[in-house]
Amino acid sequence: MEKLQAALARAREKREGGTDRPLRTTDVTARNRARRAAKDGAIGERWASIGMFEASPKRMHDSRIYSSEASVEAQHFDILRTKLFLEMRRNDWTRIAITSATAGCGKTTTACNLIAGMGRQPETRGMLFDMDFRRPAVAKFFGAAPGSSLEDVFLGNVDFADQAMRLDENTSVSVTTRIVADPARVILRSQTSEILDQIQADYRPDLMLFDMPPVLVSDETRGFLKLVDAVLIVAAADMTTVAQVDEVEREVAQYSNVAGIVLNKCRFMDEGYGYSY
Ligand SMILES: Nc1ncnc2c1ncn2[C@@H]1O[C@H](COP(=O)(O)OP(=O)(O)OP(=O)(O)O)[C@@H](O)[C@H]1O
Ligand SMILES: [Mg+2]
Repeated sequence: MEKLQAALARAREKREGGTDRPLRTTDVTARNRARRAAKDGAIGERWASIGMFEASPKRMHDSRIYSSEASVEAQHFDILRTKLFLEMRRNDWTRIAITSATAGCGKTTTACNLIAGMGRQPETRGMLFDMDFRRPAVAKFFGAAPGSSLEDVFLGNVDFADQAMRLDENTSVSVTTRIVADPARVILRSQTSEILDQIQADYRPDLMLFDMPPVLVSDETRGFLKLVDAVLIVAAADMTTVAQVDEVEREVAQYSNVAGIVLNKCRFMDEGYGYSY
């Protein structure tokens, strides 16, 4: 028994470079980071070149973004994120659009919580793009006011790294700060698709999340869906009808895959944020 304990102590000492202290979370995080930096060198450097942004905790709270820290409220989004990631891995998906039948169902709230929650999962990388060019809201939800808008990136006037903002080491948001009169023109341009391909190749994100306008009231959403791997449909309890969900599913299925349906705005706590297939 003593021999075994001595062997374990020697092994631990060797592992920790001669110290006999227990392994701390910070050691593990630092080690994971170093391992990843060594593995993905240039990609890590590109991520590091995106400016860090300190989101306003008050704005986030007022906008119902709870997921940046573990909490009871964040749990619903953590479950949603886990289920979505399982589905993404199973199908080899990276690009996910969020849409709904009509306005105000909670698309932006869901998208912002998903990306904020990824900040607590340093082994994955995620990007959020505010593609709602008529009613952009992501900047307001995080309290951000950058000098340029996502449209500038798609027009090729600004580099992705200069316009995007990192919320955490592994997550970025690309916000829209300027309303675009004719979004279809930007969204359907082949240059937009090429720029997204380039961003994906350069930064290798695990998730590219696109906050879209409602599909039944915006033609550009339909046009964009062919560029994504799958679509998360947000329905609001007491607001979205079953017929509308069916219609959105049919629309989405013409261009992409349905990743799942989020039932939002449930009045009863044990229902909360539902996620179903
Ligand atoms: N689960 C929820 N419980 C209560 N309020 C919510 C919930 N989810 C979202 N909201 C609120 O509903 C409103 C609309 O949410 P949000 O902006 O996320 O919807 P949206 O689908 O993105 O709307 P739009 O179609 O205008 O882009 C916001 O005021 C938001 O705070
Ligand atoms: Mg929105």
